[in-house]
Amino acid sequence: MADGQALRKLTIRILRYNPRVPGDVPRLQDYEIEEADGMTLFIALNDIRDRLDGSIAFDFVCRAGICGSCAMMIDGRPGLACRTLTKNLGAVITLAPLPVFELVADLSVDTGKWMRGMSERLEAWVHVKQGEIDLKRIEDRMDPDLAEEIFELDRCIECGCCVAGCGTARMRDDFVGAVGLNKIARFRLDPRDTRTDEDFYELVGDDDGVFGCMSLLACHDVCPKQLPLQTQIAFLRRKMVKQGTLG
Ligand code: SF4
Ligand code: F3S
Ligand code: FES
Repeated sequence: MADGQALRKLTIRILRYNPRVPGDVPRLQDYEIEEADGMTLFIALNDIRDRLDGSIAFDFVCRAGICGSCAMMIDGRPGLACRTLTKNLGAVITLAPLPVFELVADLSVDTGKWMRGMSERLEAWVHVKQGEIDLKRIEDRMDPDLAEEIFELDRCIECGCCVAGCGTARMRDDFVGAVGLNKIARFRLDPRDTRTDEDFYELVGDDDGVFGCMSLLACHDVCPKQLPLQTQIAFLRRKMVKQGTLG
């Protein structure tokens, strides 16, 4: 018994497909398990792999909502399997891989490749002018409120949920997604980064950046770290419109 309620029998319905296996076709496969007290989808999937079918592919590293590797579609909505309790879902739970990212197999996708490409395109690192390393700028104590603001945006774990939930990302291959726009917002704030608003405009002042975003806001709703994506994107867009007008 959990919380006075009988534990349920669960059906975990998994979209199975391995594009590397010749002749394999996408199919839904059901697994029946007993719900346990405090069971997460991480526990459920491991139970299935240990007892019922060792061939299911899925990713986990930290089991604590930190690494971002366990993101998947849970009943049609992107989320972290290790942070999702089965008791908050129905008795039939459908799991599928995140769309947009390259499928490895079953529930495993290569978010790393996508994130790397996006980070390289956006040059998501602190820029200092070549040959002009301003030690004072680097070593100066940062205002604690500003450091807090940057830290808030740095909490992104690159799980890919915001990209998987975004209609624009599904239509435009090069759209940087809320995760990319959040990075730009983060580096704009950083006093050690010598890039100007013109430089940031060059990076995301187009349809693959802020102007491709249609304010669908699924990103904001599904982000497991509750990042203030809506505010950041709206702010960036206002800035970029101004930048475009001036430029
Ligand atoms: Fe995940 Fe949120 Fe970062 Fe998007 S912004 S990758 S949903 S943590
Ligand atoms: Fe996509 Fe979020 Fe914009 S869901 S369209 S990035 S507001
Ligand atoms: Fe790391 Fe879920 S296993 S976030």
